[in-house]
Amino acid sequence: MNELIIVLDFGGQYNQLIARRVRENNVYCEIHPNDIPLEKIKQLNPKGIILTGGPNSVYNEESPLCDKRIFELNVPILGICYGAQLMAYLLGGKVSTAPSSEYGSTNVSIDGNSKLFDNVKENTICWMSHTDYIEEVPNDFRITSHTKNCPISSMEKNNLYAVQFHPEVMHTQEGNTMITNFVKNICHCKGDWIMLDFAESTIKQLKQKIGSGKVLCALSGGVDSSVAAVMLSKAIGNQLICVFVDTGLLRKNEADEVEKIFGTNGSYDLNFIKVDAKDRFLEKLKGVTEPESKRKIIGKEFIRVFEEEAKKIGKVDYLVQGTIYSDIIESGHGKSAVIKSHHNVGGLPKDLDFKEIIEPLRLLFKDEVRKVGLELGLPNYLVLRQPFPGPGLGIRIVGEVTSEKVTIVQEADWIFRNEIENAGINLSQYFAALTNMRSVGVMGDERTYDYAIALRAVITSDFMTAETAKLPWEILEKVTQRIVNEVKGVNRVFYDCTGKPPATIEFE
Ligand code: XMP
Repeated sequence: MNELIIVLDFGGQYNQLIARRVRENNVYCEIHPNDIPLEKIKQLNPKGIILTGGPNSVYNEESPLCDKRIFELNVPILGICYGAQLMAYLLGGKVSTAPSSEYGSTNVSIDGNSKLFDNVKENTICWMSHTDYIEEVPNDFRITSHTKNCPISSMEKNNLYAVQFHPEVMHTQEGNTMITNFVKNICHCKGDWIMLDFAESTIKQLKQKIGSGKVLCALSGGVDSSVAAVMLSKAIGNQLICVFVDTGLLRKNEADEVEKIFGTNGSYDLNFIKVDAKDRFLEKLKGVTEPESKRKIIGKEFIRVFEEEAKKIGKVDYLVQGTIYSDIIESGHGKSAVIKSHHNVGGLPKDLDFKEIIEPLRLLFKDEVRKVGLELGLPNYLVLRQPFPGPGLGIRIVGEVTSEKVTIVQEADWIFRNEIENAGINLSQYFAALTNMRSVGVMGDERTYDYAIALRAVITSDFMTAETAKLPWEILEKVTQRIVNEVKGVNRVFYDCTGKPPATIEFE
């Protein structure tokens, strides 16, 4: 049995981040609802409990609470923000509206010794986000830090710890040290859990749940759906059917690569069905130039193709989706989740006949999914590759999508990626797009009137904003030379120097 830390969810926005920070210490961590019964907690036998933040005020009647007896379990507990206030409130302290709320990076002064703050500087920057605060600590608790506006920014008694700030967010400069202190020094976890344990126990649970049921998976060849499919394949073998739709809008060789790994001669037992729908997509995109219309058409056609295949297969019991945590929008206390409708290519069909959707990766962050993929033996190039949008090259070709343009952008993109990989440059996303601009050039002694390729390379951590990468000139020069020499129909290459905002990462 693995060491386990549980997080009780009070509706805070960083809850999954807390779980992830614990897992970074090689300790398994799960999130449970705030009102989980005491008996269930005892069964889980956690080495520690973390109470999350949340938007409520402890005094409101409808505010989420937890069973007060958790404080008598003799299990270390860390309350964060609302969780800290709740600990104070339930144990007899006083919580009230702070005279001035604190939001953002705040200087916290550590007062005296605390195991939670081992190796943390006496004055440290923490992320605050609160309007209520602990005004009086419960009996026998001692104050372990303060800020200018918050006289009790942390408190503790025996193995109960509470912090008003958020150690889980990056802006708390020594937050990771605090979480490690809690996990290792306070909960005494050894930290011997690895992602493979998660994969193996999920595979076991899937096996039990699915029994002899039939499962259908839309495999795009992207990281998430590939990892999900492999997990399912390990759980239920050939009860799984994977449908891969070749839209013709994938990168050069991509469809073949996906088939090589997952097809009949590959290493997995996936009942792999490849649908060659290239012509259908091109037909639907004929004459369409408006980017949003192209997205909608591609999404709709994808669903139609998938639906047709599913009907041929007949009744299935479960549908697998490679949804990961960033695809999930928390609602309420995080007890229910809504999947973004534009997940991958336009979402999945709504009127298919199946019992339930299975999302084995829904609680993991992208880099954790990658770890699972590597530990399950998927090849590096597939697991570590950069993001690729569901609508594919359809949104990297400005103007009408034609077969000729798809080939041009595939070839140019192949060269660019090749050179970046050879140079070993680390980028968040990089690709070639085809502008809709043709201009005059000269090649040999001939006049040309050809397209211009735009190269795009960005650095970003969250893909919400991005900076243009300052690529070495020699690389740009070499890529330009290769593209104009090797790709028919191109006589100019531009480098897109625009960040996001005002541009987007994609070029559509
Ligand atoms: P933008 O262009 O909005 O892209 O700055 C941000 C990130 O999202 C990816 N992207 C998509 N991914 N389906 C996807 O699965 C889509 O429709 C889609 N559109 C953009 C884009 O590649 C970048 O990583």
